[in-house]
Amino acid sequence: MGYAVLVERNWFTLRRFEIPVLPPGTGPLRVLHISDAHLTPGRKRLMSWIRSLDDLDPHLVVNTGDSIAHRRSVEPFLDSLGPLLGRPGVFVLGSNDLFAPQPGNPAMYLRGPSSRKLKKKAPDLPWEKLSDRMAAAGWLDLNNKRGQLTAGGLDIAVAGVHDSHIERDRYAEVAGRADPGADLRLGIMHSPEPRLLDQFATDGYDLLLAGHTHGGQLCLPWYGTLVTNCGLDRQRARGLHRHPAGGQVWLHVSAGLGTSPWAPARFACRPEASLLTLVPRDSS
Ligand SMILES: [Fe+2]
Repeated sequence: MGYAVLVERNWFTLRRFEIPVLPPGTGPLRVLHISDAHLTPGRKRLMSWIRSLDDLDPHLVVNTGDSIAHRRSVEPFLDSLGPLLGRPGVFVLGSNDLFAPQPGNPAMYLRGPSSRKLKKKAPDLPWEKLSDRMAAAGWLDLNNKRGQLTAGGLDIAVAGVHDSHIERDRYAEVAGRADPGADLRLGIMHSPEPRLLDQFATDGYDLLLAGHTHGGQLCLPWYGTLVTNCGLDRQRARGLHRHPAGGQVWLHVSAGLGTSPWAPARFACRPEASLLTLVPRDSS
């Protein structure tokens, strides 16, 4: 436990993937995917590591939620983003942006999804301030919204949903064919529920990005993830995979940057951000 709390939780890693989703003759497009920072104001190492990600020179930043874990975390999180906020960006929220973490038995998550207690509560974290500040910096709020942006010279159609883990997703508000004239169609969500993946894929999105799973957070070497905390199978709890709908859409699930302050341990599942380099599809 000492290793999991003191070492691995602060042993950040950058994962890199190349994804062939762009039209021939375009790109590459560098997309930085961050998720699940669960930032508390004292996490200086995490904050400075997030800030260093600007050196990757991404064309687009995608934040799939659970950014904060304390009512005084909005400013530290925005400070961490620093120059990244000056780049094109999109975001959705996760349940932990709305609800402060509660103490509990960390082993309970092994028994199934954790959302039940949150559905009837009123939010007690400043999620509106967090959203407003990211939006004021120019990032697109994709909580049950569609949008269009230009990044790296490419025309990108985007859509997202709020967190299905607390039943705030409203796919009907973004449903419909993704713009076939765009260079890229990107769908984002916090929790990668298979029914949402199916819907985005059927509507023609090329690449789906999600977080929430923490990659399982406490994993077993040579076995991997124990639970995903949602309906996704554990084999796809993190990393790049295909989803078998709509022509095998690409799915990237981030294992996330942080942990709940009440379960401050990671094992065989280092905290991460991902640099996704989008390249042209194989035209053969
Ligand atoms: Fe999370």
